Amino acid sequence: MNKRKIMDNIFWMGVIDWNRRLFDGMIPIPDGTSYNAYLIEGSEKTALIDTVESEWSETLMKQLSNVKKIDFVISNHAEQDHSGSIPNVLEKYPESILICSLKAKDLLTAHLKIDAERIQTVEDGEVLSLGNWTLKFIYTPWVHWPETMSTYLQEEKILFSCDFFGSHMATTELFAGNNQQISDAAKRYYAEIMMPYRKIVQKNLDIVKNFDIKYIAPSHGPIYDEPEFIISKYEDWSSDNVKNLVVIPYISMHGSTKEMVEYLASALADKDIRYEIFELNVSDIGKLAMALVDAATVVIGTPTVNVGPHPKAVYVASVMSVLKPKLKYAAVIGSFGWTAHAAQNICDIISNLKLEMLGNVSVKGVPTASTYKELDALADIIAGKHYSLMSK
Ligand code: FEO
Repeated sequence: MNKRKIMDNIFWMGVIDWNRRLFDGMIPIPDGTSYNAYLIEGSEKTALIDTVESEWSETLMKQLSNVKKIDFVISNHAEQDHSGSIPNVLEKYPESILICSLKAKDLLTAHLKIDAERIQTVEDGEVLSLGNWTLKFIYTPWVHWPETMSTYLQEEKILFSCDFFGSHMATTELFAGNNQQISDAAKRYYAEIMMPYRKIVQKNLDIVKNFDIKYIAPSHGPIYDEPEFIISKYEDWSSDNVKNLVVIPYISMHGSTKEMVEYLASALADKDIRYEIFELNVSDIGKLAMALVDAATVVIGTPTVNVGPHPKAVYVASVMSVLKPKLKYAAVIGSFGWTAHAAQNICDIISNLKLEMLGNVSVKGVPTASTYKELDALADIIAGKHYSLMSK
């Protein structure tokens, strides 16, 4: 794709990657993604904000073929999907200076072997003149690396936010509007990338809300021409408020755990408690992560394999431990053959989440009348907790 005009002298550059399905070797991205770079041609100086994955360098260099000079290459984030082609750009424009945050310098030299002599670091709040336009650098750390910053084009009120507010979405739409599909992709992105830093996201939202913003131009997915659309979503997702939702990831070997899950789910529905079930052999872990953005409670269903939880339940518990959703309550249910340690193992894995454990229903073999009674009791406890949350 050629470069695209956003407005006079400001262009989208980069790549729409329709085929990519996995990020960081583990994160499913069913809708592909894009790597956005932005060219800003001021009256005196020209800046390029971020680049693309090194495997797509040729595409970016073709887009730059008619650009005679670049004075500043701005790296908002050192991760390679945005910095991977910086060496090519610096080579093509030997007079250009690489601008980055203080913490990014070390990362850019370590990951890309960039000559430190080419780098000029900027402080939080520092400005850079392009002649008629001014760029202001705003430190927005931990979204999602320690060095991340945003760049604000003051006169045109554009916030170039890199990963912050991004969406893994391959589309020819340059602008997001209030498109629900893009909102869903942004939620998946938030869940998979930003959620572990939820509290810092809140702080960064407070920072960027101090600026008059007409456009948010992230480095993945479309540009937000209605910035309040994505800011309000981020405020909701990162808030401390949970919703009336129980997420139930489970795996079953001989059907008993499945039967327990279905019984509990039915009991919850009878009490107007919403739930989403994720059978771990068929479920998209990204969809599960999206549900965890909102959920108040997780119930993990796992049988015992030998003396511990099923490996797929261990995996989902580990993912939760890493993503750090704002859950408040948890429980474990499942069947075992001859010994029952699965629940304690799962609790240990997610102990960093500091959840209130609401119970452990386990049964030797197939569920019995007593099992159903315990599941009814668990549903009562969950409902009580949810009613109490909703009434606040
Ligand atoms: Fe899109 Fe953290 O890189």
